[in-house]
Amino acid sequence: MFAQVERLPADPILGLTEAFNKDTNPNKIDLGVGVYRNAEGITPIMRAVKKAEAQLLEQETTKAYIGSHGDPLFAQHLLPLVLGANSPALDAQRATLTQAPGGTGALRLAADFIKKTAPEKKVWISNPTWPNHYAIFKAAGVEKGNYAYVDAKSNELDFPAMLADLKEIPQGDVVLLHACCHNPTGFDLDQEQWKQVAEVLQERELLPLIDFAYQGFGQGLEEDAWAVRFLAEKLPEVMITASCSKNFGLYRERTGAFIALAANREDMEKVRSQLAVVARSNYSNPPAHGSALVGIILGSQELKSLWQEEVTEMRERINNLRQEFVQALEPFGLADKFACVAQQRGMFSYSGLKPEEVEQLQKEFGIYMVKTGRMNIAGYNQDNLQYLCKAIASVCKTS
Ligand code: LMR
Repeated sequence: MFAQVERLPADPILGLTEAFNKDTNPNKIDLGVGVYRNAEGITPIMRAVKKAEAQLLEQETTKAYIGSHGDPLFAQHLLPLVLGANSPALDAQRATLTQAPGGTGALRLAADFIKKTAPEKKVWISNPTWPNHYAIFKAAGVEKGNYAYVDAKSNELDFPAMLADLKEIPQGDVVLLHACCHNPTGFDLDQEQWKQVAEVLQERELLPLIDFAYQGFGQGLEEDAWAVRFLAEKLPEVMITASCSKNFGLYRERTGAFIALAANREDMEKVRSQLAVVARSNYSNPPAHGSALVGIILGSQELKSLWQEEVTEMRERINNLRQEFVQALEPFGLADKFACVAQQRGMFSYSGLKPEEVEQLQKEFGIYMVKTGRMNIAGYNQDNLQYLCKAIASVCKTS
């Protein structure tokens, strides 16, 4: 049988890490996969996480299963982080959380849940989006459609086109939205724009699925949750996928959650029962280590403050790098061309570099980024910024 199996190309994002690791260029720079790196180019274990791990080592008494919905303490602390400490949805007991193996696992839960309970619904995805969105919904057998997001020519957010497309989506379908730090573009909606989106969702009874993978990386932990909380207040039903990969640095621990807000407690219980079955038939129980750490951190005033400081450090470093990048391109006459990088938010920038320029950067300079021109801003530092900008100037001149 295996001889008949088709060989597939590497993943457009994870495949870059493999190629980067093999590259012998001493000046190589990895701007591919979305992991945070500090000024030394390292993805550190956060100090709050290290302290929580020490506590966990002391206190953990069992490795028994944690159940299909995951760790109750994790849910108890993550829900208010996402929905707000005074969330009316939490007071009304209309929210349910199912822990998942990372944000990707949460999206897969969402996709399977949609396929199982409302197979006629299509999911509408921004163009462009994180490529794995397509793969996840395809694997779950959910049909997909696109709505406009960025104007390909100007490389700017095209909000009128987005809104016009949302108005055409068939009533009752699912719309996948990025809460903040849009992946791959870094272009976010402002509050006025979110209000207009909410109106369309309301009018057409569309069901939002909000991908919330970068809380704290845009403008702040509370600020980044604004749209999630606004939609949670305005709409009877909302789905959210949250990730602790980035803001807790727990990438490989696979820690995330699928959150559903229903119109009332009774409906919420129905949804929850479905999610237990979806999780059970996928992986049964989620991994316990990451969620235990999140529970410890958010449950301790001291560790929570330390963690908040660290999230601020990461966010500020990324935002400074954005400014420095544009400044460093000034001598090459490219500051205007790349001015958008300083305005975008989160880990990624849709740089506007064309696929052939990206290819040249990789081949000639050992600089790796996603083919679409998406750069991980946290991937460069003071030591290699000049090299990066020189390389970009060189490919922009020749192409
Ligand atoms: C990314 O977009 O690079 C991250 O979300 C990591 C991933 O799984 O693709």
